[in-house]
Amino acid sequence: MNQSRIATVSPARTIRGELRLPGDKSISHRYALLAAIAEGRTRIENFAPGADCRNTVDCVQALGREVSFVSGSERGSTAVASRIPQAEALLPPNSAKTDTVEISGLGAMLCAPATALDCGNSGSTMRMLSGILAGQNFSAELRGDASLSRRPMGRIIEPLTAMGARISARNGNHPPLRIAGGNLKALDYKLPVASAQVKSAVLFAGLFAAGETWVEEPVQTRDHGEIALQAFGARVIRRKNRAGITGGQKLSAIETRVPGDISSAAFFLCAAALFPGAELVIHELLLNPTRVALLDALRAMGLRIAVLDLAERAGELVGSIRVEGGELRGTVISGAQSAALIDELPVLAAISPYTSDGIEIRDARELRSKESDRIAIVAKNLRAMGAEVEEREDGLRIRGQQEMHGAEIDSAGDHRIAMAFAVAALRARSDTLIKDADVVKVSYPTFFHELQRLTES
Ligand code: S3P
Repeated sequence: MNQSRIATVSPARTIRGELRLPGDKSISHRYALLAAIAEGRTRIENFAPGADCRNTVDCVQALGREVSFVSGSERGSTAVASRIPQAEALLPPNSAKTDTVEISGLGAMLCAPATALDCGNSGSTMRMLSGILAGQNFSAELRGDASLSRRPMGRIIEPLTAMGARISARNGNHPPLRIAGGNLKALDYKLPVASAQVKSAVLFAGLFAAGETWVEEPVQTRDHGEIALQAFGARVIRRKNRAGITGGQKLSAIETRVPGDISSAAFFLCAAALFPGAELVIHELLLNPTRVALLDALRAMGLRIAVLDLAERAGELVGSIRVEGGELRGTVISGAQSAALIDELPVLAAISPYTSDGIEIRDARELRSKESDRIAIVAKNLRAMGAEVEEREDGLRIRGQQEMHGAEIDSAGDHRIAMAFAVAALRARSDTLIKDADVVKVSYPTFFHELQRLTES
């Protein structure tokens, strides 16, 4: 594999080795945002190294908070975030020592930014930061790259406007957003679409509202927002599919370490699933019950997965697992399971042709509103590799027992598509070229390096 803008992935014999993932992206965003409005210096080790979380940190800095990146052993260095070149994120593990972030919070009220806040490719940054900006006494503009500028923001505009924020957007739905915050009132909000980002945005805004704000979700989504708020000292009331928060609570800084990102681990788990006899041990992995749907799905498909140890850290479950490849049966994914697997569906779809009975994905319309239209681009790339695919409005049906050949893969500027097809390439008959491969820097800058290290050819 050689990673420049084009990565070449050759057929492999198996996957074997031990692995530690960069910090979970969903948790890193939330810690950085809450640290900014907490009191005291928060220290976050194993902070997600990708460009997405870097955008969140840069926004926090632009909103008047002091941010430093330090090496794991160092404390309170004065190295300011903006002095660390983005390119460093492309180095193999251990050469980038800046995986610890310290953020000095000064309480709930931030400073008006001098220029527009750049969220880059990150929907999480834009949506969750909007919840906090809704409570500020200034107005700010949020921008994103071409992909983010196409993504729906009506889903946060509606509840935050109902709470009292004034928000304008292109066509009422798309970035850039301008948010004039302040004087929020509590809201009892039923999410029309299952979205953890929106749930977190409303709960974060609830910190600034008079009274009790509630969010109800149609199916359970990841609960890192609720857990992080509690870790920072807020009282969050949790009842089945509802979460509530009382406004005016003060947050206090925390010191913690982010567990490894299970959505990044997904690529190696699916790679191991391709080879009977593959063996992988993953250390310090996030095992939050709202994020482990992929482990259940892969187990049902024939992968053997054992949890070796389990602990709790700042309210999140973290542990080590051992996985062994075996059979690779097919499955049907629908309903709440589709929501729980939303970030892992592209890689599951990409390995579907190698299963014995195929994979059907239903109720996953949301895939069309991600960094790319993930239903269309998965179908296009699978066809390029020679597979037959049925594309549906809300999912895909891919027959099993299909051989695939190498092809040129269009990443569509989407990190998870580039990584999903690097995995599919491992069982193809010939070399695969992943175009725009450096897009992996959005969530997992060292992905290709790790894939190469664990692959036996
Ligand atoms: C995320 C929630 C999901 C997921 C995204 C991260 C989060 O998005 O796809 O990668 O951290 O809350 P939605 O909230 O849009 O479903």
